[in-house]
Amino acid sequence: MNSPDPRFLFRCLQLAQLGGTKVCPNPKVGSVIVHQGRIIGEGFHPYSGGPHAEVVAVEAVKDKSLLTQSTIYVSLEPCNHFGKTPPCVDLILKHKIPRVVVGCLDPNPKVAGKGIERLRSGGVEVILAENPIPFQELNEVFFLNQQKKRPFIVLKWAETADRFTASRKEEMSFPIKITSRPANEFVHQLRARYQSIMVGCNTAAIDNPSLNTRLFWGDNPIRIVMDQSGKLDQNLNIFSDGGKSMILSVESVSNVNSNVRYFNPGEWIDWEKILKKLYGEYNICSILIEGGVNLHQQFLAQGLFDKIIILRSPDYIGKGLKAPDLPELPFTIQSLGRDWVLEWGANSFS
Ligand SMILES: NC(=O)c1ccc[n+]([C@@H]2O[C@H](COP(=O)([O-])OP(=O)(O)OC[C@H]3O[C@@H](n4cnc5c(N)ncnc54)[C@H](OP(=O)(O)O)[C@@H]3O)[C@@H](O)[C@H]2O)c1
Repeated sequence: MNSPDPRFLFRCLQLAQLGGTKVCPNPKVGSVIVHQGRIIGEGFHPYSGGPHAEVVAVEAVKDKSLLTQSTIYVSLEPCNHFGKTPPCVDLILKHKIPRVVVGCLDPNPKVAGKGIERLRSGGVEVILAENPIPFQELNEVFFLNQQKKRPFIVLKWAETADRFTASRKEEMSFPIKITSRPANEFVHQLRARYQSIMVGCNTAAIDNPSLNTRLFWGDNPIRIVMDQSGKLDQNLNIFSDGGKSMILSVESVSNVNSNVRYFNPGEWIDWEKILKKLYGEYNICSILIEGGVNLHQQFLAQGLFDKIIILRSPDYIGKGLKAPDLPELPFTIQSLGRDWVLEWGANSFS
């Protein structure tokens, strides 16, 4: 295609990614301003409450007089309402930017098409990307949050070729490591993509995991741990390594460091209710659920998942803790080093 639009829209996608999970509960947005085929300003939404991508891009333009002959590219429809910042539509109209290219519409009912409508009625030429899917996929979490008012849920586990997720203490004298280094790096990359990570009480106690992104670049997720009766040892990494943790428990434990907070959801069976509270009261927008099987089975049984990612090794161990029953879904399969990645996503925009 001769039009430069796809190239600059792709740049918007790259920029938007830089907001990472810090933008939650907002969407990731990137913007580029182009004058006569040259980028003269660009930016992204850096964190929730921070300036919108369009504002950062406009501010980056040194000679503002060029704006009246420029195109602004933005990965998501510009907003038309007052939130934590003024509407971006006003900014575009104020600077008389004559052409706007948009990656996809905003699913937020306060915006949804209204931003574009107002730009057009203000005399601005607005063009929508031919293929909105990459822009919707970029914000799979935000789209799901808007639609279902709960966090985006990813179930992830590692299993052996004969579908065991762990050795049992009574059966083997040593814990097994299931996947190899490339798969472990992939998991850390996944952790950087989602805002929080959840484990059950047994996983926290037996594995003493750190649940961070040390093998990849990116923010560490908030650890959410199910410890209803408050029995977990305070020396575990989730309490003592300085990272953020949220413990779902009936009772708060005093004298724990300030990075650890307690939340009593008042409900322990109905995950739809617990998730709505986590989203509504704590702005938890996405959760990577890393196990164990007990926790995974609950989400599978309640049909509460938007993605399932399984890392499968080629090794057989013959006994251990059985992996969750797999729902009959069209998984994609890819190799990763000596392991395999099976993935299924409900929120496909295609
Ligand atoms: N291969 C993998 O990818 C992977 C990943 C993670 C873990 N693992 C392995 O899995 C094993 C642990 O798995 P697991 O199935 O035994 O246990 P788990 O899922 O880690 O923890 C289950 C426990 O968490 C608490 N819990 C879970 N859901 C709850 C709810 N809705 N409300 C209140 N409390 C809740 C309960 O503890 P209480 O009843 O005691 O309060 C429950 O017994 C470990 O050996 C670990 O190494 C493997």
